[in-house]
Amino acid sequence: MFQKGLKGVVAVHTKISLVDGDQGTLRYRGLNVKELANYSFEQVAYFLSYDKVPSKEELEKFSVKLKKGRNLPSHVHKIVDALLPTISIMDAMRTGISAFATPEFLEMEMTEQATHLTGALPVIISRHYRKQQGLPFVEPNENFTHTENYLWMLNGVSPTSTQVKALETYLKLTMEHGLNASTFAARVTVSTDSDLPAAITSAIGTMKGPLHGGAPSGVLALLEEIREESRIRTVVEEKIQNGEKIMGFGHRIYKTEDPRSILLREACLQLHGSDAWLDLATAAEKEITALLEQFKPGRKLYTNVEFYAAAIMRSIEMPASLFTPTFSVARIVGWSAHVIEQVDDQAMFRPQSLYVGECR
Ligand code: ACO
Repeated sequence: MFQKGLKGVVAVHTKISLVDGDQGTLRYRGLNVKELANYSFEQVAYFLSYDKVPSKEELEKFSVKLKKGRNLPSHVHKIVDALLPTISIMDAMRTGISAFATPEFLEMEMTEQATHLTGALPVIISRHYRKQQGLPFVEPNENFTHTENYLWMLNGVSPTSTQVKALETYLKLTMEHGLNASTFAARVTVSTDSDLPAAITSAIGTMKGPLHGGAPSGVLALLEEIREESRIRTVVEEKIQNGEKIMGFGHRIYKTEDPRSILLREACLQLHGSDAWLDLATAAEKEITALLEQFKPGRKLYTNVEFYAAAIMRSIEMPASLFTPTFSVARIVGWSAHVIEQVDDQAMFRPQSLYVGECR
């Protein structure tokens, strides 16, 4: 049987998340993501990793381990620092994570390695980002949570509680999402009995592509091009007629509204009320959905997580070059959980190809 892009093919059993594309629901370990509002990044990461809500002591221990990950081994920071600033942050992350694979690191339990890499990733990002900006590195702040510290290291100023809440909402909602392309890449890599840094390196390489992790910048560019409500139809029609995809719309699994998109839209409105940009985004969502139904009938194209992620990123003044890296700061938790699940339920991925060339 041939399925281009493995569309609709079930390739693994998982207990990590349930993505129901018909109902438009997402559950982490059985819990609807709507229920995560009062949980912290650390609590959700622990829950996804260990399949239990942490006790106070467990959470404390986990947070300490995450913080330990912020101290990059000297060989890792030297490698990251040696990279040219013209290299993208995603590529710097790939190189930095890959450099963790020393024999000593690989001797640790895989769950410990995972917590360590989750703690380390924001540091690699901020090191490279600040170098690109010609700014000095900001040391991690031991008193800050994972989300606070990420914003602190990027900007060198203490974040406001509104900024932390906005980013944390986004990070929690994007931590895990079934067998998406980057998670699949991670599982394929470890299915050959490779290791966690190799699997996360594969995942980062896959996440880099604009069809998967790079859409929020595309959404901002789209809304910038639209500029005002009266231009939505003209801009979008032209793109559809040129065979272009409308960024922030469509999803391989969701054939109704992406629940994360709904929650992020609510979060944006709660945090900031409406402003001209958000008004334009809301109007664009309605009109583009209708236009896609008109030009692509039956394809069921709605906004995906990236559409309102763009609004969240904009509200915290996150530059576009940091959108996909920030997505990865969340998703590394899901990647790691899947890698561990793959190791526990091992079967090497090796699909077949159908030769359609000539025989000479
Ligand atoms: N704009 C216009 N048309 C679209 C869009 C879109 N955003 N998405 C799908 N379509 C159309 C396709 O042109 C195709 O039409 P056809 O039947 O006439 O050929 C049909 O809908 C099916 O599209 P596929 O590309 O086969 O759908 P697939 O499930 O493979 O694509 C994807 C999913 C890659 C997300 C796609 O919808 C897309 O490229 N969207 C824009 C990029 C984007 O927002 N990416 C972020 C996704 S969320 C995430 O990864 C975290």
